[in-house]
Amino acid sequence: MSMDPGMEDAARRQTAPGLGAAAAQAARPLGLRVEGLQVRFGDFVAVEGLDLDIAPGESFGIVGESGSGKSTVLRAVCGLAPASRGRVALQAEPGDRSPAPAPGTMAFRRQVQMVFQDPYGSLHPRQTVDRILAEPLAIHGIGAAEQRIRGVLDAVGLGTGFRFRYPHQLSGGQRQRVAIARALILQPQVLLLDEPTSALDASVQAEVLNLLEQLRRERGLTFVMVSHDLAVVTHLCQRLVVMHQGRAVEFVDAADLAAARVQADYTRRLMRAAEGFRRDEQPAHPPPPAP
Ligand SMILES: Nc1ncnc2c1ncn2[C@@H]1O[C@H](COP(=O)(O)OP(=O)(O)OP(=O)(O)O)[C@@H](O)[C@H]1O
Ligand SMILES: [Mg+2]
Repeated sequence: MSMDPGMEDAARRQTAPGLGAAAAQAARPLGLRVEGLQVRFGDFVAVEGLDLDIAPGESFGIVGESGSGKSTVLRAVCGLAPASRGRVALQAEPGDRSPAPAPGTMAFRRQVQMVFQDPYGSLHPRQTVDRILAEPLAIHGIGAAEQRIRGVLDAVGLGTGFRFRYPHQLSGGQRQRVAIARALILQPQVLLLDEPTSALDASVQAEVLNLLEQLRRERGLTFVMVSHDLAVVTHLCQRLVVMHQGRAVEFVDAADLAAARVQADYTRRLMRAAEGFRRDEQPAHPPPPAP
């Protein structure tokens, strides 16, 4: 996530040498609460009246057709898109009474990290993996970079052999593992995943999804994952929201979606469209007529 250089300097001064800051923020499960979120771009309302209540450690999905506002929600949560109304907050577990970091603070940025769809576009082409991973640590004034970089490369299944490569020297799957490592290196509690595997080959997609699921379980992370692919979301998420034209149409448990126990016509249409797409790939079964 980017921030203006003045803030970076201020953050370095405040938290240097950093190890103390790291220790002070021991892992503490955090969920996410969004209330009445509205995002406008000029006169256009991209997200309207959205409420989300995501428990610490939950894996939550956002689905909907292209342009329905899914990415905008994630961007608003991490401060990359302007919220014109409503509020975003981290929420701790019920017994945990110490206040959660507030949006706009360095502590919030550290706890909420984003993984983008296109790992090539999101990694700087002239920076080595080492530099890409060292940067967030420097911004947040966190020491022990060597140890953390080695640890996170192992955690994403790359190992230190990849440390001094440039993005163009990596496969798409390896690049996305670097993007995940960059998101993880600050040891956040919440990962915002915007179509994290849709730019990858089907076989690599499965590997990266398995890696994400393993990391989530091991680290007790909270996921908010956007995907076009209902199969991916039902596999990885416990609950999801269906969005249409910037609004929540329906909240549904993944198991209910998988069993087609849904309420809204729009959700049914989305499911039929997904089935049509799968059948398109098998010419023996022509797609059903458009709804
Ligand atoms: N910075 C921006 N300025 C103006 N309009 C924007 C901006 N970002 C997004 N929008 C508009 O907001 C709407 C929602 O966009 P968003 O990227 O959130 O959709 P999405 O659901 O993620 O779609 P996709 O599945 O194609 O990624 C779109 O109509 C888009 O054109
Ligand atoms: Mg999007």
